[in-house]
Amino acid sequence: MCKSPLHPFLVKLPKCEHHIHLEGALTPQLVFHLASKNAIPLPKLPHYQNPEALAARYEAFDSLDDFLNIHYANMSVLITEDDFYELAWSYFCAAHADGVHHAEVFFDPQSHTSRGIPIASVIKGYSRALARAESELGVTSRLIMCFLRHLPVPSAHATFDSATGFIQDGTIHGVGLDSSEVGFPPELFTDVFRKAKDAGLHRTAHGGEEGDVSYITGALDSLEVDRIDHGIRLIEDREVMKAIAAKGTLLTICPLSNVYLRTAKSVASLPLREFLEARVQFSLNSDDPAYFGGGILNNYCAVEEAFGFSLDEWKTIAIAAVQGSWISEARKSALVQKIEHVVSQFT
Ligand code: ADE
Ligand code: ZN
Repeated sequence: MCKSPLHPFLVKLPKCEHHIHLEGALTPQLVFHLASKNAIPLPKLPHYQNPEALAARYEAFDSLDDFLNIHYANMSVLITEDDFYELAWSYFCAAHADGVHHAEVFFDPQSHTSRGIPIASVIKGYSRALARAESELGVTSRLIMCFLRHLPVPSAHATFDSATGFIQDGTIHGVGLDSSEVGFPPELFTDVFRKAKDAGLHRTAHGGEEGDVSYITGALDSLEVDRIDHGIRLIEDREVMKAIAAKGTLLTICPLSNVYLRTAKSVASLPLREFLEARVQFSLNSDDPAYFGGGILNNYCAVEEAFGFSLDEWKTIAIAAVQGSWISEARKSALVQKIEHVVSQFT
């Protein structure tokens, strides 16, 4: 709950989320529950004494890699198809409560296949939760398979090839690129992204989170992405910023994540006003809600407290999120109508 008078409006505003790693919804409670169920030993470190100690450790990340080390360690508790289902279902329930109507969710198959988990267990578990979210909660979704950029490129190719059946039957809608950014430029993944394009998949990549603008331009030019995940360092190059605004490329910005991972000093220091003024399209997202202060609504609230946006500005942001979604024109119109209805109720 934020202190802004717009809080009730922000709760009701229909939201699209484009930047949420399903593994990043693994709460400390669920880590301990699944570790016990699956008899997986947790690391012998003070912050693994109990869920509270683990949550307290999340307040002290000093970089993206510091977070990723714990994030990957925690994933070791995910073993069965049902574990992946339970994780994704818990995300959709929380997202629905936050006013999400459409979610495009990332997952990291290599974090699981490298531990001997079949890719089918991961994808079948997740896709069961996606189907239930649509039928019971009315939340539509897309599944985006990410490649881990710190792993060798052939591993990305092997992952892509092993998912062929799920690509051909439409279960996987797009590919992404995540994990440690600096030192792992997007150009390394040109060939696997070309395969994804040839297979008719949408494409996105993390860029400009810790890395400089070359990680954004590299993703646009070499990977032919439709979106940039994070992209906050775009503000450092006004020419590229103009080009991205003209092209209409969506940035999927994660305000609380940026503060937790120290890529921004505060939410108020993010260039959101500059992006709005330059007509750079962006959506607001949670990234890893179990780690960075909660879900999408907390991110909307943090932005409102920092910027005090007007109803009109929020309408612009919410509609950009719809237009940047990988959904049909009919679904876009339905979501825009819902947004206009809520804005009119509060005007
Ligand atoms: N994987 C999960 N969260 C991430 C982030 N913020 N950046 C890169 N990879 C990630
Ligand atoms: Zn991310």
